[in-house]
Amino acid sequence: MGEKFRISGGQALKGRVEISGAKNSALPCMAAALLTPETITLHNLPYVRDIITQRRLLEDLGATVLTPELRTHKINASNVELFEAPYELVKTMRASVLALGPLLARFGKAKVSLPGGCAIGTRPIDLHLAGFERLGAEVRLEAGNVVARAPRDGRLRGSEVHFSKVTVTGTENLMLAATLAKGRTTLYNAAWEPEVVDLADLLNKMGARVIGAGTSTIEIQGDEELGGAQHTIIPDRVETSTFIAAAALTRGELEIKDCMPGHVAAVIKKLREIGVEINELNPTSLQVSCPDGLKASDMITEPYPGFPTDMQAQYMVLMTQAKGHSVINETIFENRFMHASELQRMGARIQIDGRTARVNGPTSLTGAPVLASDLRASASLVLAGLVAQGQTLIDRVYHIDRGYERIEAKLQELGADIERIRESVTGPLPQSFPDIVTA
Ligand code: UD1
Repeated sequence: MGEKFRISGGQALKGRVEISGAKNSALPCMAAALLTPETITLHNLPYVRDIITQRRLLEDLGATVLTPELRTHKINASNVELFEAPYELVKTMRASVLALGPLLARFGKAKVSLPGGCAIGTRPIDLHLAGFERLGAEVRLEAGNVVARAPRDGRLRGSEVHFSKVTVTGTENLMLAATLAKGRTTLYNAAWEPEVVDLADLLNKMGARVIGAGTSTIEIQGDEELGGAQHTIIPDRVETSTFIAAAALTRGELEIKDCMPGHVAAVIKKLREIGVEINELNPTSLQVSCPDGLKASDMITEPYPGFPTDMQAQYMVLMTQAKGHSVINETIFENRFMHASELQRMGARIQIDGRTARVNGPTSLTGAPVLASDLRASASLVLAGLVAQGQTLIDRVYHIDRGYERIEAKLQELGADIERIRESVTGPLPQSFPDIVTA
């Protein structure tokens, strides 16, 4: 019995919205807790499904996770007894492969199910595995699982790792593993994403020696052990960008609080180019409006600091409302236009050719029943619903719950006409956001 969003479009969003912690930073930071027997306290964790999944994984491995406050986890991994992430978890959340690096580094062994295909392309983890081999691990594939072992004395060896492609979780996994390796590791062509920097900050608070995070070369001097630490997760830059897009699309006026404008610089630059007014009110707040409408402009996704692939679907919705013709090139993932066919059903004029989408705007969108296919695609359907005439019904909203904290509640507070409904045998019932924090 799946949950849906019902949206009636046409309201201009107005008011203030607070940005939650970054899911993509919280996940590797939670995995980092596996590196030490001491307690890691993480603040500002977002209240989203992927965090619950990661917590379950840590608990399944034997860690204790306490939640003294809704957004704070105290993780203690002194009693880890299991060294594997099962398929049931990995298939719902690829980022569970982030357990590999810490388990291998601290316990000398790890088994993680291979993630396999997903809605946005093949997404292999070969670069993670090749990196572990460079650190001296023996990596085998057994019945759909990756089984990795450290050298005989149980410790990885510091080494040089050259990534042939920029990989965010690959960089994080290797960084995690290298903190407990013997000697120094240098990661070349590393990802620069703010989430990588946030993880490095936490690791350094734990006593690790990581330098260069935020550039393409990261050096890690390995230690025999790491200690406990407290850390506050950075704001979510994709949620920030999604709300900027929502303000622009609905011709509203929003104050976006608790964000880091520097982390969304590429999005701000592009959106200003297409006519969105964005002012930095202070170092953690933005004011967004769009008094003169949107103009079409081409966009290409790139690794950070370029325009993020996680905002490509939302940008496509902006282009359906912009005057003119635009070309969107997706360079990170091979099959990340699943939202296009749903947007077409709402009246958008989009042509897909491989990794290129051509959008003709503006078109007035009409509400329709649509299907969410992945996390960011579902955000784009919510945005489309907010500007469509009539009613949009979005099915499979569990995708959006993976990464956006109470999106419908935040939008309601800004004046949107959106509700979560659950289909029951007696018909649709309104439902508030479920309490997803387990005891
Ligand atoms: C992370 C983000 C995701 C974002 C993506 C790109 C998390 C939890 N997820 O995903 O939201 O969309 O970065 O910014 O942080 N690749 C390989 N081999 C590998 C690893 C990656 O070929 O071993 C390829 C991928 O298929 C993809 C590209 O490299 O084409 C980039 O992927 P990567 O940066 O690894 O994405 P994730 O870390 O999975």
